[in-house]
Amino acid sequence: MVMSEVRKIKFKVFRFNPAVDALPTWKVYEVEVDRGMTVLDVLLKIKEEKDPSLAVRYSCRQAVCGSCGMMINGKQRLACFTRVLELNSKVVVVEPLNNLPITRDLVTDFSDLFNKEKMVKPYIIRDDIEEMKNPTGMYLQKPEELLEYLQFADCIECGLCSSACPTYSTDHLFLTPMILNKAYRFSVDSRDKGLQYRLPIIDSEHGCWRCHFAAACSSVCPKGIDPAKSIQLLKKIITSAGIFKRMRKKEVQLTLRPHAAEPPT
Ligand code: SF4
Ligand code: SF4
Ligand code: FES
Repeated sequence: MVMSEVRKIKFKVFRFNPAVDALPTWKVYEVEVDRGMTVLDVLLKIKEEKDPSLAVRYSCRQAVCGSCGMMINGKQRLACFTRVLELNSKVVVVEPLNNLPITRDLVTDFSDLFNKEKMVKPYIIRDDIEEMKNPTGMYLQKPEELLEYLQFADCIECGLCSSACPTYSTDHLFLTPMILNKAYRFSVDSRDKGLQYRLPIIDSEHGCWRCHFAAACSSVCPKGIDPAKSIQLLKKIITSAGIFKRMRKKEVQLTLRPHAAEPPT
């Protein structure tokens, strides 16, 4: 039989509405927390029973949608994936994610990340445009080809890695680990031929070379992805002689076929 365990825990919650507040404030709520309750459960309980004005973003409540990322006791975590009693803390401090603009209270603005994501074209790009438009078969992939990108493909775009990145905190033009990992995931997919379109951005001044491989990003990923590794592998692709050779061939093709300079969407 599972024993019930209820403890009173203080939640120190960051409050700020940029539309009306000059400065942020902290509010402290004391909540009875049962075994198994997550930080998101507690925040929703606070909204329901104590303060409906608290702003929190969430959707799936099972670590899939990536929308409930926040700082919990100083670390980037998903609120729906963090059990309060496992924090082993009498006071739990909850703040919005570092490195991102605050929309309100615990909600941050992901526009910068999503705009950068569009720049690296996070989808499969093919050479055979006619086949893409009118497919005559399936794009087959061997198991070993799948393994090339599988460990990097589970990203839920929660932004925790980018929030933890010290480079992003000082260079807001840096592509960030979330986006560079995405660029790697598609560029090593055997069905994809889009590296040539991504290179100008990932190989730019604010691209992969700005990463100094401290791996703060990988240490907070709730899906066990290692974006620090995918960024180093991107650097390897760029410096690889083989890739440069293939790129040169590709440039010749592009000159002959200018309509392919932009990939199909
Ligand atoms: S390894 Fe690179 S991307 Fe990851 S936190 Fe460090 S600087 Fe940022
Ligand atoms: S790599 Fe991990 S931490 Fe970064 S956005 Fe994807 S799931 Fe979140
Ligand atoms: S609510 Fe979807 S990841 Fe937390």
